[in-house]
Amino acid sequence: MSRGRDRHGDKGPGTRPFHLAARLLEVTLARPLGPGEQAEVAALLRTGAERSMYWDQPRADQRHGLAAARLVRSSRPRRTDLVRAALLHDVGKHRAGLGPVGRSLATILGLLGIAGPARFADYLDHGRIAARELDRAGAEPLVIAFALHHHRERPEEISREDWDLLQSADRAVLGGG
Ligand SMILES: [Fe+2]
Ligand SMILES: [Fe+2]
Repeated sequence: MSRGRDRHGDKGPGTRPFHLAARLLEVTLARPLGPGEQAEVAALLRTGAERSMYWDQPRADQRHGLAAARLVRSSRPRRTDLVRAALLHDVGKHRAGLGPVGRSLATILGLLGIAGPARFADYLDHGRIAARELDRAGAEPLVIAFALHHHRERPEEISREDWDLLQSADRAVLGGG
């Protein structure tokens, strides 16, 4: 089974020991966004609700979204909706408030079909949580659809080309998942 297939099984980020170790390092070492990076993000956020969602994330998640957005923009600079979809796809994770160990535990228990605390369920459901919040914030349909489906199969409303670009950007940057 390919890694890509794994990602589409609605199972959240990987559970390998390497992933956890890398994630711990990322979270520990993640620097706050600098003024130039903050301005770059600000230019992509449209409402106070979107700003709250993005800036409420831990630094590592902010960096993950920005890095994915930059990758998408390097391929499709005129597609602001695609760039915003990459930037905002994981904003639902903040609700669970889990660190890297908790996130990995939630993923492992989820794969085993064991119900954990509500925060674990929230983490595993972060796509749906993000989609609901982005919908309320008035984000465009592609941004909502990618947040909702990014750990599932491609939905019809996202073209194969757009989907492949977004998925490859999410996987290519630190903190993928
Ligand atoms: Fe995700
Ligand atoms: Fe992600």
